[in-house]
Amino acid sequence: MARVLVTGGCGFIGSNFIRYLLAADATVEIVNFDALTYAGNLANLADLQDHPRYRFIRGDVADRDDVRMAMQQGITDIIHFAAESHVDRSIHDSGPFVRTNVIGTQVLLDAAREFGVNKYVQISTDEVYGSLGETGYFTETTPLHPNSPYSASKAAADLLVQAYHHTFGLPTVITRCSNNYGPYQFPEKLIPLFITNLLQDQPVPVYGDGWHVRDWIHVLDHCRGVEAAWRYGRPGEVYNFGGRCEMPNIVLTKLLLKLLGKPESLIRYVADRPGHDRRYAIDCSKAEQTLGWRPQVPFETGLAETIAWYQTHMAWVASIKNKDYVNYYQKQYGQL
Ligand code: NAD
Ligand code: DAU
Repeated sequence: MARVLVTGGCGFIGSNFIRYLLAADATVEIVNFDALTYAGNLANLADLQDHPRYRFIRGDVADRDDVRMAMQQGITDIIHFAAESHVDRSIHDSGPFVRTNVIGTQVLLDAAREFGVNKYVQISTDEVYGSLGETGYFTETTPLHPNSPYSASKAAADLLVQAYHHTFGLPTVITRCSNNYGPYQFPEKLIPLFITNLLQDQPVPVYGDGWHVRDWIHVLDHCRGVEAAWRYGRPGEVYNFGGRCEMPNIVLTKLLLKLLGKPESLIRYVADRPGHDRRYAIDCSKAEQTLGWRPQVPFETGLAETIAWYQTHMAWVASIKNKDYVNYYQKQYGQL
């Protein structure tokens, strides 16, 4: 029986993953280890708080004592989602990104060696590959070329993971996924920010010319991929996941306006993100061929369900758009 330490389980993808895995596998036990930063929210898993195979521990991945205490719970596997995850925040201050994403990964890797695990899964990102031109795709052998402090910290963590596999034989697997969307995403990322602003008839800030391209994947497709990489991934390997769903930001923005019945006058073109990556697109054929995985949620269906989720969870949104959020919003966007 597996007892999995899931780090960052109170964030967007981690909370979706825990809910998904507990339902998909009636034997697995999960210890959710999360520091509850601004992005971590116990309400994301309120429905599971009394679940017999689930337990929450508050702790910091960069703190050795916290991590050792969690590992003493009979952990058999680690799936490491915890991170500072927002590019714009990494441009304001890269310090927390290096601490959590780099040092935190090193501390976890040391704990994985000390206690022994069957598998260590590192949740990385396609951003470690940098930016594409108008053609081509990221494969698992694309050289790392991170451009933001966020992606640089994720790439550093990936290199540590690979070094621990190579040097110590630690059974690691790295996943690199494209842009996720779905329920419980913090409204600092494009899709939830724009949906929640539009629901309140607020403008939406489009960076630069709006023709930057992202490859969108529903969070549950990513969760299924992480499960497959954990169960069947070969130690030392990297697996890319993507939605085969490329879209320029301005096209997505106009789609959101249409689905929500709002006017295009709510679009505000604002200053571009410094160092903004132009295009991401994932070749996920390795995961399809070797893990039996494929993205299943059509974007139109997933996006409509995501909009409906935010419409019915405005209390959740209101609790997040608190004083800290307003301060961040002011700093990032000023007056729109
Ligand atoms: P998120 O920001 O929503 O959640 C991050 C979680 O990590 C929060 O619960 C937070 O409290 C926790 N955390 C932060 N610092 C911590 C620390 N020092 N110790 C313990 N917990 C800490 O992030 P997300 O969007 O759910 O992303 C999860 C992972 O997936 C990240 O590693 C990210 O790099 C990766 N990823 C995200 C996407 C995406 O589109 N969101 C795509 C590919 C990969
Ligand atoms: O590709 C995977 C990555 O996707 C993850 O590793 C990151 O954790 C996650 O945050 C996401 O990074 P992006 O920077 O691509 O996501 P974001 O939602 O911040 O931005 C998506 C696109 O929209 C990007 O081109 C910037 C643009 N954008 C974003 C915001 C927040 C805007 O035009 N306006 C905005 O206000």
